[in-house]
Amino acid sequence: MIVRAMSEDDLAEVWALEKGAYQYPWSQSIFRDCLRVGYCCRVADQGGALHGYSIMSVAVGEAHLLNLCVGVQSRARGYGRKLLDKVIAEAALLNATRLFLEVRPTNHAARGLYDSLGFRTIGRRKAYYKAPQGREDALVLALDLGLPLERDTDPHDPR
Ligand SMILES: CC(C)(COP(=O)(O)OP(=O)(O)OC[C@H]1O[C@@H](n2cnc3c(N)ncnc32)[C@H](O)[C@@H]1OP(=O)(O)O)[C@@H](O)C(=O)NCCC(=O)NCCS
Repeated sequence: MIVRAMSEDDLAEVWALEKGAYQYPWSQSIFRDCLRVGYCCRVADQGGALHGYSIMSVAVGEAHLLNLCVGVQSRARGYGRKLLDKVIAEAALLNATRLFLEVRPTNHAARGLYDSLGFRTIGRRKAYYKAPQGREDALVLALDLGLPLERDTDPHDPR
C-alpha cells in the first residue's frame, strides 16, 4: 500500500468512499476545491484501488486535519493509522507545531485512533455537526509536533 498525492482523476473514487462512510458527506466540489487551493490531499492506494484518503491544511505553523476516511470495506486493516502517520509526518515537515482536528464524541473508532497517537482533547465546539436529532458537538483535539524544523540549527546561535 502506498500513500500518494490525490489527483483530479481520483475524485470519483474518493467521493464514493466519502458517501459510503459519512451520513453527511462532503460534496465532490469540496474535494475539488481542496485540491485547487493546494491542501495536502492524500490517498491510500493498493494496486490502483483506493482504500482511504486524508485532507490537511497547513498555515502559519498550524495544521488542521479536515478529513480522514477509510472505506467501509477496508476498515480495521491499518489504513487509517498509515494515513494518519503520513499526515503527522507531513505536518512536521511543513513546520507545523500542532495538528488540530474535530471529532464527534460518539466516533469511537476515530477517537481510539487519535488517542493511540497521543492527541489530547483541548476543547469542544457546540452544535458543530449535523446529527439526526439536530446538532452534535465536536471535540477539538490537538497533537503537539514539537518545535519547527529550525530547531536543527545551531543551539548556541544567540538569535
Ligand atoms: C476512523 C477510521 C479512519 C479508522 O480507520 P481504520 O483503517 O479502520 O483504522 P485502523 O485499522 O488503522 O486502526 C487504527 C486504530 O483505530 C482504532 N480503531 C479502529 N477501529 C476501531 C473501532 N471500531 N473501535 C475502537 N477503536 C478503533 C484503534 O485504536 C486502532 O488501533 P489498533 O488496530 O492497534 O487497535 C475509520 O473508521 C473511518 O474512516 N471512519 C469513518 C470516517 C471518520 O469517522 N473519520 C474520522 C473523522 S474525525
